[in-house]
Amino acid sequence: MKEVKGNLTIEQQKIIDQTVVYVRDELSEAEGGHDWFHIYRVWKTAVTLAQEEQADLFIVNLGALLHDIADAKFHGGNEDIGPEKAKAFMESLSIEPEVTEHIIHIIRYISFKNRHQQTDFESKELQVIRDADRLDAMGAIGIARAFNYGGYKGRALYNPSIRPNLNKTKEEYKAATEPTLNHFYEKLLLLKDMMHTDAARKMAEQRHRYMEDFLEQFYAEWEGKR
Ligand code: ADP
Ligand code: NI
Repeated sequence: MKEVKGNLTIEQQKIIDQTVVYVRDELSEAEGGHDWFHIYRVWKTAVTLAQEEQADLFIVNLGALLHDIADAKFHGGNEDIGPEKAKAFMESLSIEPEVTEHIIHIIRYISFKNRHQQTDFESKELQVIRDADRLDAMGAIGIARAFNYGGYKGRALYNPSIRPNLNKTKEEYKAATEPTLNHFYEKLLLLKDMMHTDAARKMAEQRHRYMEDFLEQFYAEWEGKR
């Protein structure tokens, strides 16, 4: 079968459809910020970015769909479960081994928590999916996800006497119990400058301004101002 870059073969489209069914089923019990609809948004955003950035569409489709198949946060910090599950799934389909390996790398290296680690792996496809994942933590949906996550963890919305800590280690970041508003300063407002692709940077700027407006309004309301 002839393969055209930027286009999908019928066989590839079938594999993507099967992956959608698999991921939706696997994540049917997942918590609100990390559920199938998070995957759906990242998937759609990643495909938009991939088209603008001329990334391999098949790899971006599969990588985005599988990127959170088993989040380490919900598996006692085990960061191997996701890549292993994705590998087993892909091996059950007729996917070329190099493609499977590329996607496994994407899943392993995508996490925000791994941002300080030296990695020997980079690709356009990883950049596009990572950007799409980060974009989903910004803007209106980013705000909703943060408070949803905070609620799930039983955290306060805001506490003026607990200041954000920008120098957390990976362990401190994972164990954080601070109010949800601190998360804006520790992560969400930093994402704009962490995009890899120009296409994502443009989207990030708009979502960043939306979060800044939200914070301004939040503090004004907190103090009962008109
Ligand atoms: P991802 O799975 O997209 O790589 P994370 O697992 O870091 O990202 O976070 C998932 C979602 O939960 C994001 O929207 C993120 O902003 C939110 N989140 C993570 N940690 C916190 C926190 N301490 N407080 C509030 N929201 C959080
Ligand atoms: Ni994600």
